[in-house]
Formats: sequence, C-alpha cells, structure tokens
Amino acid sequence: MPTHSQGIVNAGDPPSPPLPRRRFVGALLGSGFLATAVAFLYPVLRYLVPPKASDVGGDAVIAGRVGELKPNSGKIFRFGNRPGLLIHTSSGEYRAMSATCTHLSCTVQYRDDLQQVWCACHNGKYDLNGRNVSGPPPRPLQAFEVQVQGDEIFVRRRRES
Ligand code: FES
Repeated sequence: MPTHSQGIVNAGDPPSPPLPRRRFVGALLGSGFLATAVAFLYPVLRYLVPPKASDVGGDAVIAGRVGELKPNSGKIFRFGNRPGLLIHTSSGEYRAMSATCTHLSCTVQYRDDLQQVWCACHNGKYDLNGRNVSGPPPRPLQAFEVQVQGDEIFVRRRRES
C-alpha cells in the first residue's frame, strides 16, 4: 500500500509541508525576477533622477579630487575628447589647461623639477599659466577655469568676455 512518503496523497490527508526543493526553485525564480527588474529599473531611475546638483555649470568636468595631487605635481585628465592638465602648484593653487601642445599637438606634462609644463616631442616649455616660454610652441595652451567644490576639482573652459 502506498504511503505519504511515496508521493501519493489521499483526498482526506492533511496538506503536506512544502518541499525544500520547491522552495529553492521558487527562491531562484524570485531572485532572477528581482535581478531582471533591477536591471530594467536602474537605468530608468538614473535617467529620471538628476545627478547631484552642482553650481559649476554644465560644461565642467571633474579633473580630480582634493588631496589626490601633492603640491608641485600634475595629472592628465580627460576634457571631452582631449587631454587636460591639472597642476597643483607648490604654493597650493590648482591650475588647469589644455594638455595639447600648440606646436604639433603632442600631449604635454607637468615637470616638477622645472615647475613648468613640458612637451617631450620638441622640448617645448610653458609656464604655469600655459604661456609658451621656450621651444617651438607658437601659442599658449588654452587655460581653463578651476573651481573646487567639496572635495572635487571642477574644470571648464574660460568664458569669453
Ligand atoms: S609638439 Fe610640442 S614642442 Fe613640438
């Protein structure tokens, strides 16, 4: 005669407890559904909820964070599709400028030993304001505005006046 343990249930028997396997499959399906819902909703929420407000303007980019650069050092950051150069001067100021050399468009870098911006291609040099001071560069580097807000350093093109 078949019993409960063999899987046959008579009409008058009390309901059997849920099987652990059934619970496992249910949890698996539920978590899969949840993951799918999050994958669809996250981009929608990112679109609907604006990023943290900032009063630095729409064309500004974050070039770095306060404390990231020690004094007398520089770093390249991405400014649109061009490189930018952020410099933390020895006196503690931040300066930013285009990192594209005005001679033949090599990427310049900050030289802490010279405390100048230097282009390795043809030994062009610029001062900390981006003015060409020696070598073949014919024009200054484009200078950017720098604004520190919280621990973020924002950079944007200077407005023409
Ligand atoms: S490309 Fe920079 S000095 Fe020539």
